[in-house]
Amino acid sequence: MSIGILTSGGDCPGLNAVIRGAVIKGDRIYQERFIGIRDGWRGIVEDDVADLPRHEVRGLSRQGGTILGTSRTNPFEHGGSERVREVMQRHSMDALIAIGGEGTLTAARRLSDDGLPVVGVPKTIDNDLSATDYTFGFDTAVAIATESIDRLRTTAESHHRCMVVEVMGRHVGWIALHAGLASGAHAVLVPEIPVSLVQVCQWVRSAQSRGRAPVVVVAEGFIPEGEERATASRGLDAFGRPRLGGIGETLAPLIEEQTGIETRTARLGHLQRGGVPTAYDRVLATRFGAAAIDAVIEKRWGSMVSLSGESIVHVDLHAATTVLKTVPRERWDEAAILFG
Ligand code: F6P
Repeated sequence: MSIGILTSGGDCPGLNAVIRGAVIKGDRIYQERFIGIRDGWRGIVEDDVADLPRHEVRGLSRQGGTILGTSRTNPFEHGGSERVREVMQRHSMDALIAIGGEGTLTAARRLSDDGLPVVGVPKTIDNDLSATDYTFGFDTAVAIATESIDRLRTTAESHHRCMVVEVMGRHVGWIALHAGLASGAHAVLVPEIPVSLVQVCQWVRSAQSRGRAPVVVVAEGFIPEGEERATASRGLDAFGRPRLGGIGETLAPLIEEQTGIETRTARLGHLQRGGVPTAYDRVLATRFGAAAIDAVIEKRWGSMVSLSGESIVHVDLHAATTVLKTVPRERWDEAAILFG
């Protein structure tokens, strides 16, 4: 068999470990041949592919980014299933492994609905895909955010300031919740739960009254009071979704004005997606890669590999892409006991 492999959407630590896991198992156990598709769906619709022999994945599990490159190209705006089928046939590709988040896997599901032999691997630092307990990349993003918040706290303490830290999280607040809990933040604001400015300022004042430098962690997708949508001033991405960012800059002056406490903000942005994956993400990504090969051998088209407890299982791409995995109210309430 000849297997095409692509990484698409926002990159995240662990993509290379998936590629390595898939290629080594595919080569060693099943003597498969691999074709690397450059820059996600762009590479397949523009026929930009190259052989991916086993020696090219050597030592990759610790390397950040993706050796295949990525893009936010939507294949359905560039010829859709017909074009993908044509290029796959031209290179005698018998299967396609698509590693990506919500946008990528939705495209994979549509291709599979049209009869193409596609399997998915769930990736996103946001951890917002249902039908898997965790996505790889999330653990690394939380570790980076936690370390950054710890560092921002020491400078805030020296200056007796409040610090607003904006983390990624387009629709869901998993990174904010976990990094906020891990770093002992005094407030965590997530897209799922509305919180008033009065409440945030109360937490900030309460922390300051105990001699602490108040730390507010906010997910980029948090919708501020009185607004209908999250802060976005940088247009739309290729899937038509607003490019978020800037809620920290909005909140900081309001907190300063209301509390009289000097307030600074830091947006962690793409730092959360860069660099080496944690050990946890390397293990999860490697297992996902190996399981994706099993899915191909078993012709489980339209399926996605997934983590269920400690086990890697195969689930339907429909189940994985219809509902986002949001932070449940009780998880936020549990954390909120510690705020202020
Ligand atoms: O979906 C992952 C993610 O990192 C989101 O948290 C964020 O909104 C988005 O990607 C940023 O995308 P880009 O790298 O295209 O700016």
